[in-house]
Amino acid sequence: MNDFKEFYEYGKDIILHETFQTQKKFIQHGSISIYDHAISVAYKAFTLCKKRRCDIKAVVRAALLHDFFLYDWHLEGRRVKKRGFNKHGFTHARKALKNAEDLFDLTEREKDAILKHMFPLNLSPPKYKESWIVHLADDMISLKETFTKKIKKTGTIHQFIENQVARYHKNK
Ligand SMILES: [Fe+2]
Ligand SMILES: [Fe+2]
Repeated sequence: MNDFKEFYEYGKDIILHETFQTQKKFIQHGSISIYDHAISVAYKAFTLCKKRRCDIKAVVRAALLHDFFLYDWHLEGRRVKKRGFNKHGFTHARKALKNAEDLFDLTEREKDAILKHMFPLNLSPPKYKESWIVHLADDMISLKETFTKKIKKTGTIHQFIENQVARYHKNK
């Protein structure tokens, strides 16, 4: 995990953004917040991208923002009974892209990766290699989060990132 500095340089402005930080209060799977989920997906996508020729910066930034829909989807589902194509799984990629575009300058590849990450629930397939990598990283991390009953923070990527962020800013 020595590549942390490179990873963090690509996504630091997003990770430290106050709106991105609010995702700590929204749960994604089990005890994992959207913030933790996004960081894990971004780091996984970063490691997958390192082994290939691709736009690493785009992969990290898109992965950080792929679930940037900014609500608790468990509560939202309970409040308003959503059906069919209005369900969270079908709509949140578009909401994430809209929110991300409001706050950050995004490249075409970043936009595509955010918008298509729920394929095939969203019908059009990813256009770029970077989008497929974000898609794959999201699937891998989501499976792990869903089937690991209680993910302890100690010794995990979440704890690692938190420690690295603290250390990075202390040494500045
Ligand atoms: Fe998603
Ligand atoms: Fe996700």
